[in-house]
Amino acid sequence: MMSRILHRSVKNKPERAVSGRGIHVTLADGRTVMDASGGAAVACIGHGSERVAKAIAEQAGKLAYAHTAFFSSDPAEELAELLVGDEPGGLSNAFFVSSGSEAIEASIKLARQYFVEIGQPERTRFIGRRQSYHGNTLGALATGGHAGRRRIYEPLLSANFSHVSPCFPYHYKQEGESDAAYVKRLADELEAEFQRLGPGNVIAFVAEPIVGAASGCTTAVPGYFPAMKAVCERHGALLILDEIMSGMGRSGSQHVWQQEGVTPDIQAVAKGLGGGYVPIGAMLASRRVIDGLSRGSGAFVHGHTYQGHPLACAGALEVQRIIGEEKLIESVHRLGPVLESALVERFGNHPHVGEIRGRGFFWALEFVRDRGAKESYAPSVNFTEHLKAAALDSGILVYPSNGTVDGVRGDHVIIAPPFNTSEAEIAEIVDRLGSTVDKTLAAI
Ligand SMILES: Cc1ncc(COP(=O)(O)O)c(C=O)c1O
Repeated sequence: MMSRILHRSVKNKPERAVSGRGIHVTLADGRTVMDASGGAAVACIGHGSERVAKAIAEQAGKLAYAHTAFFSSDPAEELAELLVGDEPGGLSNAFFVSSGSEAIEASIKLARQYFVEIGQPERTRFIGRRQSYHGNTLGALATGGHAGRRRIYEPLLSANFSHVSPCFPYHYKQEGESDAAYVKRLADELEAEFQRLGPGNVIAFVAEPIVGAASGCTTAVPGYFPAMKAVCERHGALLILDEIMSGMGRSGSQHVWQQEGVTPDIQAVAKGLGGGYVPIGAMLASRRVIDGLSRGSGAFVHGHTYQGHPLACAGALEVQRIIGEEKLIESVHRLGPVLESALVERFGNHPHVGEIRGRGFFWALEFVRDRGAKESYAPSVNFTEHLKAAALDSGILVYPSNGTVDGVRGDHVIIAPPFNTSEAEIAEIVDRLGSTVDKTLAAI
């Protein structure tokens, strides 16, 4: 049947998914696929939760929509209380939107407005990192450093965003360089960028504490984030962390920064917040930033028709309650090492897997043509497309991307199963991933 949807590609029509239960998704032709990446690290409690469906339906029956210029709603208030009621790391207020990109847009705008409110309107610059992804709206795309996704929109992207090197030890830590020396080199680079822009002109440094799709679950070396935050503090700039993919429990703690020894001034979350049941993201802002606004105009000059949507908040609230009641972040913390060991056992000596990296239930394999030289496959090989087809053939859904090394070269695949995945399911995921990789290599 002809499709009237503008799919991601007009050349390939995707399979049609019709239902989901736990870690499994059923396709229209009856096949069942194991969803080992929660789509794009989204489905954190698995598919088909009747509790969440009921919570959304009940809210729909009570009040589906209330414009936030006039009203608040119970689910939005309760979700904010659950997220920032105890002011984790000084984060005191939540702003609910409908996607990760919108959470980043709100973060950029609030950070800018904060400095206008406190009498520093000359601050107009943001520093992000290369090989990062913060979303696809123009502001979020400008913040990110994903060369492939930016390329054709480059002329439309604001010049107020510049980029420094990521912390990406596999490719960019030098031979014999210690973690401390690498951190110092990156802190010096950030300092130099502040100096180039004029330190008093910078609003914020923006980073993913664990890089997601841009380079594949890339964790920073110890000491990196405290060193970056020190540079920001020296110049009175903010630290904005994008935990849209890595946060909300996926990496084994509620927030990744809890494992990195820093607290953000503003944080963006999404994906795992609603677990795929509802489109929702949130900006979490610190007391410092909110106080700046309170002492100034008091009104955030930003908003969307669907911000704080009651159905989205009701769905996310139930997802978060389930995560709490079933102690699912503790499960990720406990079973993350089991997933890691299984991946290491299967791929640790694989000649075409250069690195296995990640944390919690957020892992990636980076593929190489030559392991010794850490040399990637040529982009013309189209590794990602072959891997996607091989995965579906092996009955598994994983999340492959390319441009891993520098935005152009390199291929990786992300494994990000639901938090309630069992040990037996972990074994099956790794088994199916093994046959996926074998089939991919046979096809290229
Ligand atoms: C780290 C990160 N930031 C931002 C986004 C954008 O989120 P969304 O696709 O919901 O707009 C993503 C999406 O993949 C992401 O992984």
